[in-house]
Amino acid sequence: MKILALNGSFRKNGNTEILLKQALMGAQSEGASVEIIRLTDYKIEPCRGCGLCLFRENVCQVQDDDVPFIFSKIDECDGMILGAPCYFLELTAVVKQLIDRCWILGHKTGKVRKPATVIVPYATRGWTPYVSLQSNILLNIMGMTKINEITICTQGISEVVLDQEAMDSAHEIGREIAAAAKNKDFTYKGDPGVCPSCHDWLFRILKDRETVECPTCGVRGKLSLRDGKISVTFEEKAWADSRFRPDVGYNHFTYHIAPSKDYFLRTKEERKLKIQKFKEYLNR
Ligand SMILES: Cc1cc2nc3c(=O)[nH]c(=O)nc-3n(C[C@H](O)[C@H](O)[C@H](O)COP(=O)(O)O)c2cc1C
Repeated sequence: MKILALNGSFRKNGNTEILLKQALMGAQSEGASVEIIRLTDYKIEPCRGCGLCLFRENVCQVQDDDVPFIFSKIDECDGMILGAPCYFLELTAVVKQLIDRCWILGHKTGKVRKPATVIVPYATRGWTPYVSLQSNILLNIMGMTKINEITICTQGISEVVLDQEAMDSAHEIGREIAAAAKNKDFTYKGDPGVCPSCHDWLFRILKDRETVECPTCGVRGKLSLRDGKISVTFEEKAWADSRFRPDVGYNHFTYHIAPSKDYFLRTKEERKLKIQKFKEYLNR
């Protein structure tokens, strides 16, 4: 059983790297073989938006970068730990860069499910509102089930080694992911959050001013006050709309994205004529 750690920090021997390695030591204590990849050591080109991968499996216009290698490592593993520091309230840009390359994984939607866990070091309490967003998107697109997530307050390079509690929790989260991969038990063990699907605390108020929505999953509920505390109640049918439920993701890909090819091909000549003036405008 193999546990892969993806490091979204550029810093060598930084807090993310240390916490990930500590977690991998925990995974090894459960009998896992382990590997770590620092994403910034690899070439991750931006998605070119050509759409080829949507219609033909494994076809991508980007030919000369390391994303296929990274995906092959993810395919090989039985469980994954994503680590990335908080940068400007969310995760680092390299994580988003990888997310944007994940369209090609649409063909696999619903076919694999692996456990994953998340480690996020940050420096300032309260300056982390969006850190769960990217990890939830990335893991869901990759067909992974998040079983836990820890955020750790630590500022300077490698300072986290001074925080024994943080080091212990990283070790435990690594042991836990290896046990989950081994026992195929993907039960969520982290902070419950408000959204019962992705466990984030973020919610959007919709224009009817009655409904709230998890921006990540798209599940909707109603706010209420119980004993002076805000709570969100979800109707049963809210689950039908969770965009990361494997069948919803499959339907989105199969019945919304894939058929757009016909319209695109049918309108080719008309578009060619109409875009001419934009091609010429401000063209250097
Ligand atoms: C450009 C930059 C932006 C940052 N933005 C935030 C932030 O919004 N919130 C926060 O709590 N910490 C922020 N930090 C601090 C890092 O999250 C923190 O130092 C973390 O421990 C770094 O982990 P690393 O050593 O693995 O890179 C930022 C750091 C940098 C360099």
